[in-house]
Amino acid sequence: MALWGGRFKQQPSELFKKFNDSLPVDYRLVEQDIQGSICWSKALEQVGVLSSDEQQALQTALLTLSEEVEKDPQQILTSDAEDIHSWVEQKLIQAVGDLGKKLHTGRSRNDQVATDLKLWCKAKGEELSLALVSLQQALMDLAQREKGTVLPGYTHLQRAQPVTFGHWCLAYVEMFDRDIGRLNDALYRADTSPLGSGALAGTAYPIDRHALASDLGFRRPTLNSLDAVSDRDHVIELMSCASISMMHLSRFAEDLIFYNSGEAGFIELSDQVTSGSSLMPQKKNPDALELIRGKTGRVYGSLSGMLTTMKALPLAYNKDMQEDKEGLFDAMDSWQLCLQMGVLVAEGIKVNSSATLAAAQQGYANATELADYLVSKQIPFREAHHIVGEVVLKAISEGKALEEFTLAELQVYSSLIGEDVYQYLTIESCLDKRQVLGGTSREQVELALDTSRRDLADI
Ligand code: ARG
Repeated sequence: MALWGGRFKQQPSELFKKFNDSLPVDYRLVEQDIQGSICWSKALEQVGVLSSDEQQALQTALLTLSEEVEKDPQQILTSDAEDIHSWVEQKLIQAVGDLGKKLHTGRSRNDQVATDLKLWCKAKGEELSLALVSLQQALMDLAQREKGTVLPGYTHLQRAQPVTFGHWCLAYVEMFDRDIGRLNDALYRADTSPLGSGALAGTAYPIDRHALASDLGFRRPTLNSLDAVSDRDHVIELMSCASISMMHLSRFAEDLIFYNSGEAGFIELSDQVTSGSSLMPQKKNPDALELIRGKTGRVYGSLSGMLTTMKALPLAYNKDMQEDKEGLFDAMDSWQLCLQMGVLVAEGIKVNSSATLAAAQQGYANATELADYLVSKQIPFREAHHIVGEVVLKAISEGKALEEFTLAELQVYSSLIGEDVYQYLTIESCLDKRQVLGGTSREQVELALDTSRRDLADI
């Protein structure tokens, strides 16, 4: 039976019922709805609506229901209740009879659903924070294993300057660090309790909303009932966090797809995260990474869907807002899954260090070094840049690396070039020079790794 039948003469059409019901989606809020209901029953006892015995009976029945659901969560989906709030109330009434009908006193599904969803966001947010940390850990382990491995660094997907594989790993550790920070900020703002806001105007019972908020585990109660029941900023913020983090994950995926390509051959992905082709027996495709890249679009879609749903909605609650959960659940699940998959991928990466070294040695990745060498001989950088450009042009036409020119050949471009130039042109020298904070020298990578490990231990 619906929660609101009294005012209606006709039954809802079957099509409308299906259209309107949210149980197939919001059943996931069952734990939060039960928790919220227990706290509400205590608040009702405090204002004299329920006796202590009544509150105890309701609480016991709600806890039993919670255990039953834990054993058999699928049972919810066999019900024809409109939503999870109706389902919990129905089950309560079945368990304790008329007493169950008192629980909704002074409460509306509007403040109820807002509360349930915030509780869900907080719990899921914690899980995501841990998933981000796990991926950071896997990347730090990879950085440790490959901290000395030379990797060509790219700009415009053109070989630019050599870096180390460890430095590449730690770039993503930084990105996920910002994601954790963003998530924590969003969770801090979400940590306010709407319960007691009623349908829109505030409940008519003298509930101590501060006590209720802390009983629910919130930092404080919300301060405006109209806003509290119609605020979905937390949904949008979490999906924004998910979108930005998925953008990072998609770049991680794309880098690795390229490194794993036959053309680059820098890494081999483990069999555990790749699949074969039904036709071409030789294939080993980077599906896990492609799916991470692909799911990014889906998460962006959920964010823009919700922004569009909320746009220009009048205060306060509107049924449009029921559309918040599907996208949120999907975005958060996808994000979590991609983070977990990222760990599996990172753990199984085998780096082909001779291929990465060979690639770093080609493509004139040491041209900047030659320019810096000329600068050390008092040639202004802009002039040095031009001279090296000419040397590179010549090297390309002869199919040579810069260090393959004889001293006499180099001196055609500048008489200041001496025998000591060759040590400048080695990969080792390119790396060693990047001693600046945040640079790719082995010492700096080691330092960055230590700092990241220490930061992680502090969480
Ligand atoms: N199922 C609804 C939602 O998810 C909550 C119910 C609010 N319904 C209402 N008629 N005010 O938003």
